[in-house]
Amino acid sequence: MMSELTGQLLARGVNRFDIFTEEFFTEVDIPDTLAPATVRFARSGREITWTPESGTLLDAAEAAGIPLGSGCRTGVCESCRVDVRGGQVAHLSTVDNTPGTCLTCQAIPLSDLELDG
Ligand code: FES
Repeated sequence: MMSELTGQLLARGVNRFDIFTEEFFTEVDIPDTLAPATVRFARSGREITWTPESGTLLDAAEAAGIPLGSGCRTGVCESCRVDVRGGQVAHLSTVDNTPGTCLTCQAIPLSDLELDG
């Protein structure tokens, strides 16, 4: 419903920045069957090996001492959004995502990645 309403507001000329939504969900599990992935953070020049135990990309970056923006950690504020320069990600919850980017607080790698972070 919120996605549909957001789309209708955008179609009527409302700025995306002026549309606020809030979702409530239960904590999600990261499947432990996912393969480890190499994640490169282009701005810092750092590289980590992500595993399902690493958590989200934001969790993994923070554990490695790589600073990324964050606010809500629930996929709402979008302050953790980074460009995906290469590779594939999946989001663990329904988020309003711009193609070519990911919300690191909700994202996990599906392949080796390069992020603009
Ligand atoms: S920290 Fe708010 S959307 Fe990721």
